[in-house]
Amino acid sequence: MNSEQLERMGFVEGDVVESIITTLSSDQEFNAAPMGVWVHPDHQLIIRPYEGTQTASNIQDVGEAVINITHDPHVFLVTAFKEELSSSPQFEFESAITVKAPRLAGMSGYLEVTVEPKLVEEDTPRYRELLCTLQHIEIASPFPVVLSRARCAAIECVIHATRVRAFHTIDEATTQRLVHRIDDLRTLVNRIAAKSPAAEVIQKVIEMLPRWTK
Ligand SMILES: Cc1cc2nc3c(=O)[nH]c(=O)nc-3n(C[C@H](O)[C@H](O)[C@H](O)COP(=O)(O)O)c2cc1C
Repeated sequence: MNSEQLERMGFVEGDVVESIITTLSSDQEFNAAPMGVWVHPDHQLIIRPYEGTQTASNIQDVGEAVINITHDPHVFLVTAFKEELSSSPQFEFESAITVKAPRLAGMSGYLEVTVEPKLVEEDTPRYRELLCTLQHIEIASPFPVVLSRARCAAIECVIHATRVRAFHTIDEATTQRLVHRIDDLRTLVNRIAAKSPAAEVIQKVIEMLPRWTK
């Protein structure tokens, strides 16, 4: 792996990077979903798709993925809630360079990887840790991007909402806790960046919540 490039992109040992993982199914269908990428010693990249996700099944079948780099909370929202938001503007796929898995158009960088199952923790049956082997790095947008509390908060809301969707039938207390966290983040963003695209993402999350909380 080109560890210097990875480090400059923000893949720092011990940390987890939020990305969009694109994959190909055995039926040649493209898929995109937000997933964390863990950076282990020696700059090894690990992903942890939960059992039952399309990403887990595509990787099991095809063994390839693209780690798409973006800081845009809207991309996290629409790839996490593909069915729920199928009527809003979607994302576009394009061909990758070295793998058959697609990538998303317009991202700031791409890591094309082959993936092999590597069971790191045997007592976590809900997901497997999968080791990625880097095939190709592409820096699509070398322009610096500023840090924004509102964008970080919006991405945090999207991940909380994916957990509300997953837990609402099995754990009422966790669901309530997550709903409160989303509300706190909404309050923050409405105070500091009420008219931002990040605030719009949070508003869309709030509008979806009654599907799982009523
Ligand atoms: C920022 C963020 C990070 C996420 N990380 C993971 C992850 O590491 N593993 C996972 O299984 N799901 C993760 N999720 C939830 C999935 O994106 C979500 O369940 C999605 O609907 C799975 O889509 P799929 O079935 O098309 O693969 C994350 C969501 C967000 C917003």
